[in-house]
Order: sequence, then C-alpha cells, then structure tokens
Amino acid sequence: MNTQNIKIFDTTLRDGEQSPGASMNTEEKIQLALQLEKLGVDIIEAGFAAASPGDFDAISRIAAQVKNATVCSLARALDRDIKAAGEAVAQAKMKRIHTFIATSPIHMEYKLKMTPEQVIKKAVDAVTYAKTFCDDVEFSCEDAGRSDIVFMKEILDAVINAGATTLNIPDTVGYRMPSEMGAIIKSLHESVGDRAILSVHNHNDLGLATASSIECILNGARQVECTINGLGERAGNAALEEVVMALRTRHDIFGDYDTNINIKELYPTSRLVSSITGIEPQPNKAIVGKNAFAHESGIHQDGVLKHMETYEIMKATDIGLDKNSIVLGKHSGRHAFKDKLEKLGFSLKDEEINEAFDRFKILADAKKEIFDDDIRALISAEITKINEVFKLVTLQLSDCNPGGVANAAVTIAYDGKEVTDAAIGNGTMDAVFKVIDRVCNVNGELRDYQVDAVTEGKDALARVIVKVAFEDDKPAIMGHGLSVDTMLATAKAYIGALNSYMSMKDGLRSSSNKTGANI
Ligand code: KIV
Ligand code: ZN
Repeated sequence: MNTQNIKIFDTTLRDGEQSPGASMNTEEKIQLALQLEKLGVDIIEAGFAAASPGDFDAISRIAAQVKNATVCSLARALDRDIKAAGEAVAQAKMKRIHTFIATSPIHMEYKLKMTPEQVIKKAVDAVTYAKTFCDDVEFSCEDAGRSDIVFMKEILDAVINAGATTLNIPDTVGYRMPSEMGAIIKSLHESVGDRAILSVHNHNDLGLATASSIECILNGARQVECTINGLGERAGNAALEEVVMALRTRHDIFGDYDTNINIKELYPTSRLVSSITGIEPQPNKAIVGKNAFAHESGIHQDGVLKHMETYEIMKATDIGLDKNSIVLGKHSGRHAFKDKLEKLGFSLKDEEINEAFDRFKILADAKKEIFDDDIRALISAEITKINEVFKLVTLQLSDCNPGGVANAAVTIAYDGKEVTDAAIGNGTMDAVFKVIDRVCNVNGELRDYQVDAVTEGKDALARVIVKVAFEDDKPAIMGHGLSVDTMLATAKAYIGALNSYMSMKDGLRSSSNKTGANI
C-alpha cells in the first residue's frame, strides 16, 4: 500500500491565540512551539508578524529555535504584512509565508470593497512578493466555504503561476457540511492536480470541523490546518488531536493516510496549552477532555476491566496519558526531577531547573504524592512567569468567623524594598485583592476567577486563574497561581496578572491582532 502523508499545520499560536482570552506571552509561545516540534507537526504557524512588535519578536525567536518543523507567519495580501512575515521567519531552517485574501462575494463586496479582478491581482502580487523572501508560500482563499468554485479555480491558477506551493481552502465561518467541503476539495483537486498541495482549514461553528477535515483528506487535501484542544476564533478550529486520532484509530478505512505526529505527545501538548492559556478543554472533549477515558457506570467499568475494548476504542496511554503514575515524592533528588522534566517534554535551562526543583521541594513537603500533572502545572507556572516586578513574600489571613471581618496582610517585594500592609474586605478574597492593590498602587477589577484541583486528593494543588482589568478601556489580563493553599494561589494569580500588565506597559507582552486586522 502506498501511504499518503498528511501534513499537519498547527495554528494554535495564531488562530488559537485568536480565541477570546487565549493570548500568550513570548516565553509561553516559544515553549509551546518547542513542544509542537516534539509532537511532530510539519508546520507551525507561529503568529501574524505584522500584528504587533510582540508577535514579530515571538515569531523570530521561534524561527531561530525550531529545527524540525517549518515556521510560518501569516500575512494579509499587503506588502507591509509580507515584509514583516518574511523578516520574522528569516532565521528559520525551514520557513513559509502564508498570505491570504477573501474570495467570497460577501467579503469582496462589503469588507474588501474590491472587484474579483482586483482580488486576483492583489493575490498574485502578494504571492510574487512573498516569493522574494522564501520558496515555500501558502495562499488562502479566506471564506472559501462561501466562495464561487469557478472563481476559486481562477484565482488558484493565477497564484500557482505566481509560485504558491500550498493552497489553503478555509471554511472560515464553519458553514459547510463535511460532504460539501469534500465536494469542493474534490473539484479543486481535479483542477489543481499535483501543481500544489491542497490544504483545509475548517472552523467549528457547527461542531463539524474534524469531520470536514477528514472528508477533505478523502477528497484530495494533503494538509490539514488545526489547533491543539480545538482552540481558535469563535467555536475554534478542527482539533489536531481529533483529526490525528481519527486517522490512526480507523486505520482500517484510512490506512492510506498517515501523519508524522508522535501521538504519545498529544496529551502533554494539550496540558501545556491549557495551562498556558488557562482554557481547559470541556470535560467531555474527545481525546483530551477530563472524561475522555473515564468510565462512570458500573456496567462500563466492569466491561473495561474484563476486556478493554468492550468500551474503549483507544488506549489512554497511547496519547501519553497515565493517570495513575505517581512520579516523585519528597525524597526524590535533583537528578530524578530533571529526568522527569525531560520525559514530560520540558526543555529548561539549568537555572530554571534549579528554581523549579526548589518549588518542587516545597510542594513535596505539602503534598504526599506528586503526579505528572502536578509537575506539568508547576513547570508551566515557572515558564509562564513573566518578569516579576512585584513579588509576594508573605501572605497572612485572619481567622474567618461567620459575621466577622476578613483581614489579609501581605509583604510584597518591589524595586529592591519590601512593603508590608493589611486590609479588610468582604470576605478573604476581597481583602487579599484590596491589600495587593494598595501596596502596588493599582485598582484592579476582577473580571473572571477560576479555581480547579490539578489532581485528586485533599492535599491537591489548587490552580487559580484570574482575569483582571487594570485600566477601564483595556482588556483584562490573565494571571495564574498555583499552591496547595487556595488563597495563596489566588494572591499569586492576581500578582501574576499585575506583572503581565507591567510588562505589557513596557511593550514586552505580545498579543495578536493589534492592527485590528479583520481575520
Ligand atoms: O479562518 C480563516 O479563514 C483563516 C485564514 C487567515 C486562513 O484563519
Ligand atoms: Zn481560521
């Protein structure tokens, strides 16, 4: 059998980052890009270089570090976007520019205010200019799902002649049924032949993105654009883990197709994305949701114990999920810890390992058994930590009596000095936020608060995620905190958000779409 390779184009760092609340800082993006490389994706869309200096910086740093995947930047069909994209990926061993323009009547008339002829010219000019930066150029017909097929064939012919090597057909608004997307790809494949690779990019507005991607593969697509955990604009993109596991699990019907994905890295990558973005997959999310391999009913549990395949079509361990692996305890040494980090896919510098080890020891004193997920949470907190302008030194809380007044005292280090103060509030959390605001001279507005237990047990690590707005007209900023003590995790998360805000003010924090580009 002649197996066809399906290229996996991961856009978690670009379309995924366009999920509301999913913005990532540069360190987080680099860590994720390195994990995507380990996962075996073929192309990493690292961002949209022209969107902001932060995006440009993140893409260039990823381009300099990733060796085994193509690094790509998105660019509108505009010279300034293409120039920024070309310069951002310049250092990559394998590089690509991905340029796009809308081709649907509704987008051309109302958004672009251009005629179809003008759109073709712009596309050709964009591809021609992109070719001056690199050989590998992808062109996308934005809103292809609602575009006229005859017009798409015309524009695709024109961009192939200009040098485009991959042609992407996005169902930008997730409107098409899988059978319809399959028919579009079949017809385009007949017209394009082997002059370029056909790619698909399905959004999940009707919950059909994975099904559509599979149908497109069956009809000639050889690249699938997708994201970890299905993150992305609105309802998200096709989930990478679903597309890959559908192909693997149904080898009987998809035996002709395979990807380069190392499926053991699927779960670790999913965990990394959720701890960086603070967005947990829904519990019943296929493959990586908390319940994806959990059997609640007695009948199912009994069946699985007797023979796994009675109720399971995949093994949890295949995707790198080993729920019961107790990894380390308080007697574990630095060497075992370092070894574990490597196995979990973290590539840290020596001083980062030392810092993480100190934190691990503190955790091991507070928690009897430490699981893989605890270590992942601990390290993600370490790597996502942004330049610490404010550092929490101590937190003291008054006893909470019914009807009593809550009191919180903190010592915070800032600019080489330590400041101690206390505040009262309507409840402990209110007191904690108030005293931090007072010491740091800010007035944060808490927009969202989430707490969950990283693993099971009464001594579980609490992971707190806050979203705080420090200025009225600015979006809320996310902060993470981790501790076996929920209030301590809360204080850390709030200070984490404040530190991100300070870095952003210094122009260090990156976030996508700062140009307001309508993508
Ligand atoms: O959904 C879409 O059309 C996109 C393009 C920029 C590829 O994300
Ligand atoms: Zn998209």
